[in-house]
Amino acid sequence: MRILAIETSCDETAMSILESSDGVSFDLLAHEIASQAKLHTEYGGVVPMLAKREHMTNLPIILDKILNNPNLLPINYQLIPNLIAVTYGPGLEPALWTGLNFAKELATKWNIPLVATDHMHGHIVSAQLESKKANTYNLTPITYPAIALLISGGHTQLVLMRDWEDFETVGQTVDDAVGEAFDKVARMLGLPYPGGPEIDKLATQFVQHRMLDRKEGSIGLPRPMLHSKDLNFSFSGLKTAVLYLIKKLKDENKLAGLVNEIGEGELTYEQKCGIAYEFTQAVVEVLTKKTARAIEQFDTKSLLVGGGVIANKPIREALNQLQGSTLKLYLPDMKFTGDNATMIGIAGYLHSRGGTVNTLLPNSPELESLKANGNLSLYK
Ligand code: KG4
Ligand code: ZN
Repeated sequence: MRILAIETSCDETAMSILESSDGVSFDLLAHEIASQAKLHTEYGGVVPMLAKREHMTNLPIILDKILNNPNLLPINYQLIPNLIAVTYGPGLEPALWTGLNFAKELATKWNIPLVATDHMHGHIVSAQLESKKANTYNLTPITYPAIALLISGGHTQLVLMRDWEDFETVGQTVDDAVGEAFDKVARMLGLPYPGGPEIDKLATQFVQHRMLDRKEGSIGLPRPMLHSKDLNFSFSGLKTAVLYLIKKLKDENKLAGLVNEIGEGELTYEQKCGIAYEFTQAVVEVLTKKTARAIEQFDTKSLLVGGGVIANKPIREALNQLQGSTLKLYLPDMKFTGDNATMIGIAGYLHSRGGTVNTLLPNSPELESLKANGNLSLYK
C-alpha cells in the first residue's frame, strides 16, 4: 500500500509518501514541509486567508517535488499511490479546504480512494512512531486504556483511548489553547511568531545562566485551575497575569530610572527570561498535574503526547517524570512534534483499515460532498 498524505490545517503545507505492507512498519519514501511561519510573523499569528493563498501556491510545487524525488526513487519509477490521506479538520477552514480540494482532484485523476483524516489523530500517532532504520517508522503497540495529552496551537485536550480508535475527551481548555498562550505571551515580550520556541529559548537561558539565583520575588504567576477537581485547563487568566506582570515590571523599571538598550522603562533581557521561565513553570505544573490525575482516575498504563507544544524542553522533562513501572510514556520524536504529513498518512492508513466510514471511493457522491470541518472533534 502506497499512501500520499496531505496536510494543510494551519501554516505548514506538508506532503509525504509512505509505503507499508503490514500497517506496522512504514517506509517514508518522500516528504516535504513548506512552512509559512515567516510570512505570518509580521501579523503576529496565522492569517487564514494568507495561509490559504500560500497553500494553493505550494501544493502543486510540493507534489511535483515529491513525485520526482531523485534521492528516493529509482529512475523511471512511476509513483502513483493507492490511497490519499488528507487532513479535513480540525484547523483553519480556508486552509483545510485547499488541501482537501487538491486531494479530491488527485483521487479522481488517479482513480484511487481518499481517507479523510483527523489532524489530532495524526498527532496521537506521531507519539507512537519509532525508528530503528533511516526513513522506516514502526508503530509501537500501546496498552489500553491510554491517555493522550494533545497540546498544540489550537488544542489542549486529555483524551481517554479505550482502543486505538475509541476516543473520549475527558478534559480540555475552557478558553485558550496552550500553544496559543505561548504565542500570545511571546508577542507581549516582543518575540516573533511562533512564540513557543522563542519562550523555550529564553527560559533555557534563564536556567543556564543561573538567573534564578538573582531573581527577585517580583516575578510570580498563577497556576490556573491547578486545584480544580476536573481535568480541564485555563490559560487565558495566565496570559492576562503575564500582561499585568509586564506592566508592573516596566513601571518599576521606570521608577528606578532604568535605561537599557531598548529604551526607558522597557523590560531587561533578564526580566524577559524570568517571565518566560515562570510562565513555562506555570504551564508545566498544570499540564503534569492534570495529566497525572487523568492517569490515576482512569487507571491507564500508557500516556501519549502530541502537538507542537511537546517540542518544549521543560514540558518533555516534566512528563518524563511521570513515567514509571506502571506507566509507559510515548513522546514524539522532535521532527514529528509540529505539523507534518507523515503522521496524517499513518493515521489515515490505519483508519482506512479499521473502518470504512472515512474511506471514500473516487467519483462517489460521498467524496464529492466531503467537507472540511474546522471544529472536527476526533472522528465525532
Ligand atoms: O501542532 P502544531 O504545530 O500546530 C497546530 O496544530 O496548532 O502546534 C503549534 C504550536 C504553536 O502555538 C507553537 O508556538 C507551539 O506549538 N510550539 C511550542 C514549541 N514549539 C512549538 N510551544 C512551546 N515550546 C516549544 N518549543
Ligand atoms: Zn497540529
